[in-house]
Amino acid sequence: MSVLDVPIVLVGYGPVGQAYVRLVRGRSDALEQRYAYRLRIAAVTGRSTQCQLAGPNVPPRSEWGPRVPLARLIVATGARVVVQAYPSDPGFAAVAAEEALTAWRLGAHVVTATKCHVLAHWRRLRRASADAGLGFGVSATTGAALPAADVARHALLGYDIRAVRACLNGTSTYVVDRMGDGASLAEAVADARQRGIAEADTAADLSGADAAGKVRILAGLLWDWDVSTLDTDLAPITAATAEEAVAARRAGTRLRAVAVASVDRPGLVSVQLERLGETDPLAAIAGPEKAVSYDCGEIGVVTVSGGASSPLGAATALLKDTLTCATDPAVA
Ligand SMILES: NC(=O)c1ccc[n+]([C@@H]2O[C@H](COP(=O)([O-])OP(=O)(O)OC[C@H]3O[C@@H](n4cnc5c(N)ncnc54)[C@H](OP(=O)(O)O)[C@@H]3O)[C@@H](O)[C@H]2O)c1
Repeated sequence: MSVLDVPIVLVGYGPVGQAYVRLVRGRSDALEQRYAYRLRIAAVTGRSTQCQLAGPNVPPRSEWGPRVPLARLIVATGARVVVQAYPSDPGFAAVAAEEALTAWRLGAHVVTATKCHVLAHWRRLRRASADAGLGFGVSATTGAALPAADVARHALLGYDIRAVRACLNGTSTYVVDRMGDGASLAEAVADARQRGIAEADTAADLSGADAAGKVRILAGLLWDWDVSTLDTDLAPITAATAEEAVAARRAGTRLRAVAVASVDRPGLVSVQLERLGETDPLAAIAGPEKAVSYDCGEIGVVTVSGGASSPLGAATALLKDTLTCATDPAVA
């Protein structure tokens, strides 16, 4: 059986990028035996520096050279996949979109944990990837290891999906749970940071914008809504939420920030604080876990849950999308 070489250019070498390198290095032999594809990191770039790999190990940062344009790196390495793993701040959207277009122009698939361009340039990017016949893997943008995007994209194909309800922000779930235990907002956030659940800046977690972004992408996959132009209606988590979280707990329920999109309200994604009964699958998750319920009309609700958010979780989703692109780009 001939083995197909899959050189990869990784853009971004933070916690997710580093976890991805470790995963590819650790699993490439097993994946080669199983699928006859040899995944290989060919180059890694940071903000302004880069390295090309001579073997499986990334050289120390002190040995990296200045960064060259991505197009040159793709050509030099013969990359078949470009993986994006750098900040999702809106300010990066134009750069990230240009990179993706460059990759497709040069025949490489794109797999991303970076959300900004997916949100800002949805239709343009989806069209370009389809025109090129190359993959655009976005699994890592909708809940790290949780295969929510795959469920929306493939697993429920043809189902009459009426609505999606989701808890896809581990920080907000953890913080509201801690407030239900009696912690103040500041205490709950500090605790979440100490446990590595929350990052330094929790603004997008607490405002609902992060959760809404993930559900916007799911709505794009489910109903072909234009992710970039959707309205959002967000109820933020504030210090006043503590009282409501305790009251919900006393009533035998759980307060959760639930992101919702529904065919009854086309073009809108809302994030509201809801009291959930014990039997609601969104109430069962704990800490940084995620859950998405797809309301499939008469046949009932299908829920996918678990898969705590972590750099390893995001890297695992990137690896899965990389393999999917290499083996069947029509699916990614
Ligand atoms: N951490 C998680 O659990 C998690 C889960 C799901 C999704 N994500 C998403 O995954 C992405 C990566 O997250 P992360 O935690 O690894 O850290 P990050 O802080 O988002 O990314 C850090 C890396 O990005 C590089 N970088 C910054 N600007 C760049 C640019 N313009 N071009 C190329 N590289 C650039 C930095 O370069 P230097 O090294 O040179 O500074 C650094 O290597 C984010 O978009 C995040 O939202 C993260």
